[in-house]
Amino acid sequence: QVFNAAGKFRVVSTKPMPGEQWIRALVNAGCRVEVCTAQKTILSVEDILSLIGSKCDGVIGQLTEDWGETLFSALKKAGGTAFSNMAVGYNNVDVDAASKHGIAVGNTPGVLTETTAELAAALTLSAARRVVEADDFMRAGKYDGWLPTLFVGNLLKGQTVGIIGAGRIGSAYARMMIEGFKMNVIYYDLYQAKYLENFVTAYGNFLKSQGDTPVTWKRAASAEEVLKEADVVSLHPVLDKTTYHLINKERLALMKKEAVLVNASRGPVIDEVALVEHLKANPMFRVGLDVFEDEPYMKPGLGELPNAVVVPHIASASKWTREGMATLAALNVAGKLQGHPIWHNSNL
Ligand code: DGY
Repeated sequence: QVFNAAGKFRVVSTKPMPGEQWIRALVNAGCRVEVCTAQKTILSVEDILSLIGSKCDGVIGQLTEDWGETLFSALKKAGGTAFSNMAVGYNNVDVDAASKHGIAVGNTPGVLTETTAELAAALTLSAARRVVEADDFMRAGKYDGWLPTLFVGNLLKGQTVGIIGAGRIGSAYARMMIEGFKMNVIYYDLYQAKYLENFVTAYGNFLKSQGDTPVTWKRAASAEEVLKEADVVSLHPVLDKTTYHLINKERLALMKKEAVLVNASRGPVIDEVALVEHLKANPMFRVGLDVFEDEPYMKPGLGELPNAVVVPHIASASKWTREGMATLAALNVAGKLQGHPIWHNSNL
């Protein structure tokens, strides 16, 4: 699909993206926009090489694509100088390779913060209160009357929520769990989460002024401390060498037997084989997962476990957010082609 065929810059989007604003942003910047409408969900490097062709000024790509040396050198040969991932995470992008070829790389932070945090909250509630298990039970026609022991789960109020990676999304999630459920917070991050700490202090003061018990917060010295102390742990770090398999067999063993673990960051932060074993051995331990180690696949056994809630990487999937991500990605590329530095997290 082509928009503004006579445009000066050729920009390719490897996928159709929601809304029209992103197309307008590129067209207004003098771009010819080509949208790949191939039915294939995940494009290979070869597919993308043929989209880049012999002349291409900029590309908007997706987190399912492998943006490394091969693609960036092809983009450079085609005259390209701009690339944006339509995602905040860019572990699929070799930024050094892009820099080497003089290609500016952007991402789409901010617009997905609240949406992603809301899905992490939804997974927390679904896992803690066994919503999906109960839904399956109901639809299978198994409900034959109220019982005191039916689908008993965890009460969140007053429990401790642990955050590993307290950046924008982790902090927004923590805020939701504090305000919504009066949970206490323990977090681990390399940086001090000023926003989160200020929020908890202010909210604690508000509760005190109402004669209510204030919530507490603590900055942990290690991820292990969070895993040991929290009743709910939500993972929000970036994926890199230091966070790959951060949650492994040994660290799972530190967690409470009835804890809830949520992951809406990147799948490889958890060793999924170890997780399956842990879930099998601890039926009251529950997880809510939006992301998987080898997407789109789940490790064998995970899909059959009643103590796992699994959804297909939809944390940022609200209409407003997805349109916003597409628009930010377009503005990154359009801005660069018009001679400005790329807007978000520029490498150059
Ligand atoms: C991201 O942006 O990194 C999410 O995983 C998809 O929204």
